[in-house]
Amino acid sequence: MEQTRSGFSGKLGFVLAAAGSAVGLGNIWRFPYLAAKYGGGVFLLVYILLAVTFGFALMVAEIALGRKAQLSAVSAFSKLNRKFSFLGYLASIVPMIILPYYSVIGGWVTKYLVAFCTGNMSAAAQDGYFNNYISSTGEPILYFAVFLGLTALIVLLGVEKGIEKVSKIMMPVLVVLSLGVAVYSVCLPGALDGVIYYIKPDFSHFSVTTVLAAMGQLFYSMSLAMGVMITYGSYMKKDVNIESATRQISLFDTGIAFFSGLMIIPAVFSFSGGDQSALGQGPGLMFVTLPKVFETFPGGTVIGAVFFLLVLFAALTSSISLMETVVSIFIDKFGWKRKITCFAVLLGSVVLGLLSTLGYGVWAEVKIIGMQFLDFFDFISNSVIMPIVALITCIFVGYVIKPQTVIDEVETEGARFKSKKLFVVMIKYIAPIFIVLILISSVLNALGIMKI
Ligand code: PFF
Repeated sequence: MEQTRSGFSGKLGFVLAAAGSAVGLGNIWRFPYLAAKYGGGVFLLVYILLAVTFGFALMVAEIALGRKAQLSAVSAFSKLNRKFSFLGYLASIVPMIILPYYSVIGGWVTKYLVAFCTGNMSAAAQDGYFNNYISSTGEPILYFAVFLGLTALIVLLGVEKGIEKVSKIMMPVLVVLSLGVAVYSVCLPGALDGVIYYIKPDFSHFSVTTVLAAMGQLFYSMSLAMGVMITYGSYMKKDVNIESATRQISLFDTGIAFFSGLMIIPAVFSFSGGDQSALGQGPGLMFVTLPKVFETFPGGTVIGAVFFLLVLFAALTSSISLMETVVSIFIDKFGWKRKITCFAVLLGSVVLGLLSTLGYGVWAEVKIIGMQFLDFFDFISNSVIMPIVALITCIFVGYVIKPQTVIDEVETEGARFKSKKLFVVMIKYIAPIFIVLILISSVLNALGIMKI
């Protein structure tokens, strides 16, 4: 079992690979459309507050648990306390649900990259292009398969050779390019209102759904509550400082999300001539808006192509971590060979992913609780299972193995855990109470018993 556990070479390798997992479509595609939909500045504020408190505490806990147990999620929880092995299983379901539909969206990105590379930027910038594309059958399946196949190939090569190398080159380039596009978007005519909408909190937009959406997005974006950081922690060397690594990862993650919002939301204002209904369009926001931005660029085809290439890499580093997590669960649990496991996971993901891609096309009539497959998978993982996993993880760390276990792991080899107090208070009291309140009110909200 142990000989299959390869590792990261050092702190930079770990931070970049973990940031590679965290930074992905969640930041560039999901964050801007949620921020646009849930009130702009208020959403941003709630998100940042949650990130520096909740997100920080949970990420430290997960990485420390993984490094202490030296195992991936399922086995890690049962090693630390047999009664909690169910938590590992519950957490493991999440990446299994996310990977297939994530690859469908990765496929959309691949398609846009190809469109830009083949000189079809103007077509991609037309109204209706996105909807026509996702509701067709053959091409979305093809690009979904390409994306998923690439992911499987890199996972097959193993942690150090595959994941670390790709992350080290791509992540810094992504930061620079996002910054550049954000500056350009902000300068578009009419974009200033969008900047204000995005940055200035307007509390009349605040509701419990804002907080629930921000919390789900936080878990998703930081790859929390699904066993990913536990697995990555198990690959981390003992002399790497968990606290500062966590700070760097979350800064990176939140920074990219913030700039992505700045790339997209002001541009929506600019192109819609201030018509705010454009903000509520959901998952298509990035795909519809960015080609229009690039079309106004001098040399937009090239810049757009480079941009979608980087988004593709960001998405790949995340899907790699999703698949790696699922694969390592099976390897640790059943002692399967890496190759066979990769193949099995690939096959399962193809089946689930097909539901998501066809759900926007020929199966559009099929709905689960009023949602298409992709939206349903996204909802069930982010708004239901992840908050529950996060809640039980807090209880597990706060009251079963006790925060001291995590603190000891963070403080190995003489490191000092500076935010120890914040960590204990968050994990024992604030986070669990908060999650319970949010879950209850969102259920009541959904049932229409209470409108908040
Ligand atoms: N955090 C990734 C993103 O923001 O795109 C998505 C993700 C990766 C979610 C890995 C879950 C995961 F296990």
